[in-house]
Amino acid sequence: MDYEKRMVGSSQMEDEELLERSIRPKRFADYIGQSSVTDNLKIYIEASKQRGESLDHVLFYGPPGLGKTTLAGIIAEEMGVDLRITSGPAISRAGDLAAILTNLNEGDVLFIDEIHRLNRSVEEVLYSAMEDFAIDIVTGKGPMANSIRLSLAPFTLIGATTRAGSLSAPLRDRFGVIAKFELYNKKELSQIIHRTADILGVSIDEESTGLLAMRSRGTPRIANRLLKRVRDFSQVKGDGNIDKSILEETLSSLGIDELGLEELDRKILSLIIEKFHGGPVGIETIAASLGEERVTIEDVYEPYLMQLGLLFRTPKGRMVSDAAYKHLGIPVPEAL
Ligand code: ADE
Repeated sequence: MDYEKRMVGSSQMEDEELLERSIRPKRFADYIGQSSVTDNLKIYIEASKQRGESLDHVLFYGPPGLGKTTLAGIIAEEMGVDLRITSGPAISRAGDLAAILTNLNEGDVLFIDEIHRLNRSVEEVLYSAMEDFAIDIVTGKGPMANSIRLSLAPFTLIGATTRAGSLSAPLRDRFGVIAKFELYNKKELSQIIHRTADILGVSIDEESTGLLAMRSRGTPRIANRLLKRVRDFSQVKGDGNIDKSILEETLSSLGIDELGLEELDRKILSLIIEKFHGGPVGIETIAASLGEERVTIEDVYEPYLMQLGLLFRTPKGRMVSDAAYKHLGIPVPEAL
């Protein structure tokens, strides 16, 4: 019985994982948006291939969910090499990184997500690996200590971070390409939603696609996640097709409003309005009042609120706009 359950559990997991993978574009031709990033990358890839060299190291930065890992996969595919995925917090010791690096084949892509969270000793191993394709291994202790230089196959490091500013300068300087990911616009998100709906085998009308795009916070990961939830609702409560009414029902059950704001977005705005007269108020104060991490608010919530023009970062702290009052249905105070 247990065995059977495990089998069912794992095959469901595999289905979900397979679906996730099939949703991810594999080639540039299927990747929508971020053209200022992809246009240049295509040239660097073509040039490296012509020279028969590995692609220079690439740093991606920008808010989460915008397709950094996906694009790393596409780069590996277009270069015709293998991709190895890991993350800053997953590599706790220098030896772990050395093991990964020595197992790479010529030209392979190593993707390190959250690269700003690498610890210092691991980061130092990366410097020589990136620059000289070599690592120094120390054997023995004290007077017996010895250092051996081990050469590596030339590889491409793709680092991803939500904040380029928190990377140390020596690490940042070793990337030959630094690319910023921007939030997606409505048209791009609509194309992504259409593509995913096709893969999921669900029909969605034009109006609903646009509405869903508007509520996805400029983020494909959110668009795809919401699409799956609307599909669940349409399957159980409707006829399997996605229309405006089933979309509205799903989104309101998820607490997502017309602008795509979630509960915490609204809490951030209402805190600034109700407790701090619209600001300015420091980010630490906001984070402490809401019991959230400062970085979560800065990296996950603020980019979209700023894009909508509801929130501003000023030298004295965060401020909301009149539009934030209007969105929350709170009268805008008279100018003094
Ligand atoms: N799925 C997630 N991100 C995507 C993108 N940028 N293009 C196409 N499909 C995606």
